[in-house]
Amino acid sequence: MASTLIELCELISASVRTVDARCTALSASFPDLNKTDNTEEDQRLLRDDEIAKATSIALAAASQLIACMQFPTRSILDASLGFLTSAAVGVVAEASITEIIREAGPQGCHVDDIAKKNGMSELNIARVLRPLATQHIFREVSPNVFANNRISILLDTGKSYEEIAASPEDKHERAAGYASLIQLNTDETFKGAAYIQDVVTNRNGSDDELNSPLNRAFGTNLDLFSWYGQPNNKLRFKRFGMAMDASRRMSPPGAVLKGFEWSALAKNALIVDVGGGIGSVSLEIARANPDLRFLIQEKQAVVQEGKNYWEVEFPGALSSGRVSFEAHDFFTPQPVKNAGVFMIRFICHNWSDSYLLKILKHLRDAAQSTTKLIVIEHPLHFVCGEDESFRHIPGAFPADRPPKPLLPNMGIVELPGYLIDMQHQMMALLRGCERTFPHYWKLLREAGWEIEEVHHLPGTLVDQIVAKAL
Ligand SMILES: C[S@@+](CC[C@H](N)C(=O)[O-])C[C@H]1O[C@@H](n2cnc3c(N)ncnc32)[C@H](O)[C@@H]1O
Repeated sequence: MASTLIELCELISASVRTVDARCTALSASFPDLNKTDNTEEDQRLLRDDEIAKATSIALAAASQLIACMQFPTRSILDASLGFLTSAAVGVVAEASITEIIREAGPQGCHVDDIAKKNGMSELNIARVLRPLATQHIFREVSPNVFANNRISILLDTGKSYEEIAASPEDKHERAAGYASLIQLNTDETFKGAAYIQDVVTNRNGSDDELNSPLNRAFGTNLDLFSWYGQPNNKLRFKRFGMAMDASRRMSPPGAVLKGFEWSALAKNALIVDVGGGIGSVSLEIARANPDLRFLIQEKQAVVQEGKNYWEVEFPGALSSGRVSFEAHDFFTPQPVKNAGVFMIRFICHNWSDSYLLKILKHLRDAAQSTTKLIVIEHPLHFVCGEDESFRHIPGAFPADRPPKPLLPNMGIVELPGYLIDMQHQMMALLRGCERTFPHYWKLLREAGWEIEEVHHLPGTLVDQIVAKAL
């Protein structure tokens, strides 16, 4: 056992030294946790290939070291209470505490002054901030005085508290930061997640989409997207669109351009972004590839949101006809028969196999022999290592294997993918799931698609799976 501890410790030490040396070579400093911004420069540094690789090893080793050294009772207790951290983040985001602290200045803000603004009790403010500060989200700089740091500041919409209070429905509209995504997690996902155990352990439960934890939590028999369309869910509906954009911004800029070679498509090729949301991914591809055309297919209610977004982000793209939106239900036959690419990003994980097969088959029926299907998702890795029978597919698995004694899936580095599967949106909201690579391979084949290659998008957990008609 002692040797495992030493091995982990040495991995941490060697990785941190690599990061330090690389920072020196780049004449840069690793960003301090107490900073209250996350500059472009910081982001570029953290995404530097050498720094990113060494950081992943340090993080995987550090979390494994904690698991090895901590009392097991403490570890399981922490795991069982993790939801309270989500609850605390939810309170902070809902009550705009990050914004209030930012407006107070770098010296921080006393809980009494936070309470004067947002009307919460001082005691409750301290009670949610202290467990967060203990986990390095915020700082308690003197008793009951809290300041932001470079983690808590991610909840900052950049708006004034007064502006948010005057128009809470517009809080996430053109906001900075990631509060839209975080509040999606701490509101509907969190509430739905509370019912996961009831649903999945019920032997007599139906496997129907409309028997989801979300349905139980909110007493609705609608699917997520129809539920979002209800008049009392206007804020959540708008927030969802912004959250998808925030999730895209969490990836390095241009990540979607680093996999599939969009520029190799024929001039004027049509990309059909099926279930494309407000079209934020198409936007990134469109900006970099002026010779491609785009059609974003969505539910009627999202189409208008999408058009508004493009008018601001890429004026002229819609009026020139290069980009258009179309209301289309992907459970009905696909009307476009001349697509160069059908792109489905974060669609598969929303649906169970039987529903996903319907979507994939409609696309297959409309595909030509030259049409590519690009599935953009977070395929899950087996913790014990990959199913080697798929290694012949280019890009299916990472070329490098993690150093021993790290878990073959890189442990905590890959955790977000499993959590997204478990909780963040899928089971809690739609009974969908994240899938392993062999699972995608099987479903795509059943729908008439053959995987040709896979591109991992650097700096993300996301892959582009490229398939052609069988
Ligand atoms: C997780 S979001 C992904 C959006 C976009 N592809 C992205 O990556 O930003 C799933 C999208 O599927 C859309 N959607 C759900 N049901 C649909 C249906 N039956 N037909 C078309 N789009 C649908 C939703 O409106 C939502 O925007």
